[in-house]
Parts: sequence; structure tokens; C-alpha cells
Amino acid sequence: MSEVDVVRRRNLMASGVAVALAGGGAAAYGLAGRGSTGPDASSGDFSDIPAQLRGLLPERHAALIALDMERPRGGLREFVKRVRAATEPGASVGFALGATFFGPKDSLPRQLKAMPHFAGDLLEPEMSHGDLLVHIAGDRAAAIRRTVEGIRSTASPHGNVRWHIDGSRPANRVEGGKGLTRNPFHFTEGFGNPGTERETLDRALITTDQDEPQWAVGGSYQVVRIIRFATDLWDKDSVREQERIIGRRRDGGWLDGTPVDERPNYAADPTGRLTPLDSHVRLAAPDRRSPPPIVRRSYSYDRGNGDTGIIFSCFQRDLTQGFEAAQKRLEGESMAKYLLTTGGGYFFVPPPGDGWMDALTH
Ligand code: HEM
Repeated sequence: MSEVDVVRRRNLMASGVAVALAGGGAAAYGLAGRGSTGPDASSGDFSDIPAQLRGLLPERHAALIALDMERPRGGLREFVKRVRAATEPGASVGFALGATFFGPKDSLPRQLKAMPHFAGDLLEPEMSHGDLLVHIAGDRAAAIRRTVEGIRSTASPHGNVRWHIDGSRPANRVEGGKGLTRNPFHFTEGFGNPGTERETLDRALITTDQDEPQWAVGGSYQVVRIIRFATDLWDKDSVREQERIIGRRRDGGWLDGTPVDERPNYAADPTGRLTPLDSHVRLAAPDRRSPPPIVRRSYSYDRGNGDTGIIFSCFQRDLTQGFEAAQKRLEGESMAKYLLTTGGGYFFVPPPGDGWMDALTH
């Protein structure tokens, strides 16, 4: 067992975890008995992976609720208990902490801060940030809806809902060990993710050598971006044009003819004749041998009146090398004119169990 495993296991034991995960253990996430339809049926115990990352396994619906918590935080434990009690069978919940959650004496995860504005962002304060993010996911929309209602009605007096958004993963499926979905712009997403196996998820988790607080080891930084998409404008473009903007075919194939599960040879296309230099995938991951160290897990949203887009979500152990490096490269992408980021935030997903509450409520 590695040192990280030892620390993580110790955290879990201290918090009596295996059980503390809201919604139950692996079975609640559909891990048990998936047989050949799931990628991870044989990869063992996921109880020490935060629920949000375990949600990388097939799930079709999700909701994010960000709350501002009352001070002092004495009511946090009671609030978490209520959320867990409100969680319907078939739904899982996970918690994540915003920078404003922490008091001056707390050991804050080193990189946690308010999500900055990136070029072109128009962050609405009432849809951004928050002390606590509750992430609800599962296969049945009704279970998610009832869980959201339960949480909303139970939040007061411990916290106030700051924002809430529902998302879905149309055509959610697992192929070649990767969770795939079709986004509202007719493209399949998820290929460029590292695989969904245990080892890959591990790569998004904080390790002991990162000089992070002890309670945070085994957790992960989560970035959420509510990105509105100009679907009308996009739908006027030809499929070929759209594919040159993304840099992949709608079904995931590469523009230079490389099969979907292999690496394209960008070096053989230095001027971007086949895969444009300002295409999404070429800027997001210019070196296919070392893809960005993030695990993406986005949902589609539709709030009516043409307000559709993606709830982009990704997990990583290092924000600077992960999301921020990719986001900065994407500033010049040809897709930018279709996108408007209106909300979201930076959060820290604690390792499973109650160790974080023990460490932070004193
Ligand atoms: C509305 C916004 C976005 C749309 C429609 C979108 C769409 C896509 C699509 C269709 C792919 C190709 C299939 C796949 O590998 O999943 C992709 C890949 C990728 N996207 Fe996005 N994306 C969006 C935002 C972002 C953001 C904000 C980031 C990170 C800052 C990002 C990072 C990536 C990465 C790293 C890949 C994999 C590239 C590769 O492996 O070649 N995307 N995206």
C-alpha cells in the first residue's frame, strides 16, 4: 500500500467512512452488479473516492446546489445530516467547499480561491461561487428532483441556497472504459478524458507530497463553469465547419483520419490544414502524449428561452496545471464566439467521510 493509500485509509477509518457516504456505498452508485455494461464492475472498492468522482460512472441526471452557510458553522454537521436524510434512493450526494467557507483559523487547501474572471466571462454573482456545493447525481430524474426539493426545504436555518442548476447527460454510455455523452451541439464528449478506471480517478486526487492540509489528502479541486452556448448561431454552420471548430468529427473521429481511440499526428500537420490550430481539441490538448491532468465531467443544461449550454465540471489535484492551463490556452479558440460563461466556481471536494468536518468545525 502506498503512503497516499495509508493516509487516505487512515482518514477514512477516523471518520468511519465506508458508511458515511450519503446514499450508501458502491451499490448506491450503480457499481454493484453492473456486469459488462459498466467499466468498473471489476475494479474493486471505490469507497475512498469522493462521490462526485465516482459519479463519473454512468449517470444521466445531476443537480448542483450552491449555498451560503450561516456563521458560526456549528450547524454544518446538522445540515449535512439533513442533506443525507433528504437523499432519495437512487441518488448520490457529494459536498464541496468554496474558499469563502473557510474561517481565518482553518487550514485552507493551498490553491483554493474564488474563481477568477477569464477572458470573455460574464459571471453573474447570483450564479457564481458559494460556501458549499452539493452535487446530486443519479440515473432517475425524479429521484434527483425530490432530493433537490428536500435539500432546499431543509437548508434553513443553516444555509441559504445561492444558486441551483439541473443538468443531464443525453445518450450517456460507456465505451472503451470512457463515459461518453452527446452534448447539445451534436458532438460526443468524453473521448479525450483519461479512462474512467480506478487509476485514472486516483490521478485527480490530492497526494501527501503536495503540502496540502492533512484532512484534504484524497480530495480534489473541482471547477464548475456554467457555459451558455449560442446554439442558433452554431446550428447555422455546416457540420464540416463545426467539426473544424471542435477539431473532431461529431462521432469523435479525428480530422486527419486517425481512429477515435488513437492519437492524431499534429506534428505532421503544422499549419493546421487538417486540424485547425485554433480548434478546441488542438488548443485544449496540444500534446497528445501528455493530456491535461483533469478529469472532465460535464452536463447539458436547458433553462428555457434559448438558455442552453454546458455545466462544465472537471476535477484535478492541481488547479494551475489542470483547468487553468487549459482554459488559458483556449482563450484563442474559434469556438469562443459561441460561448458565454455566466457562473460556476472553484470548490474543494473533501475525501469521503466526515474527516473534513472534524478538522473544520472546532
Ligand atoms: C461549451 C463548452 C465546451 C464544449 C462544447 C466542449 C466540447 C468538447 C468536445 C466535443 C470535445 C471532444 C471530445 C472529447 O474529448 O471529449 C472536447 C474535448 C476537450 N475539452 Fe472541451 N468543451 C467545452 C469546454 C471546455 C473547457 C472549458 C475546457 C477546459 C478548460 C475543455 C477541455 C477539453 C479537453 C482537455 C478536451 C480533450 C482534448 C483531447 O484530448 O484531445 N473543454 N471538448
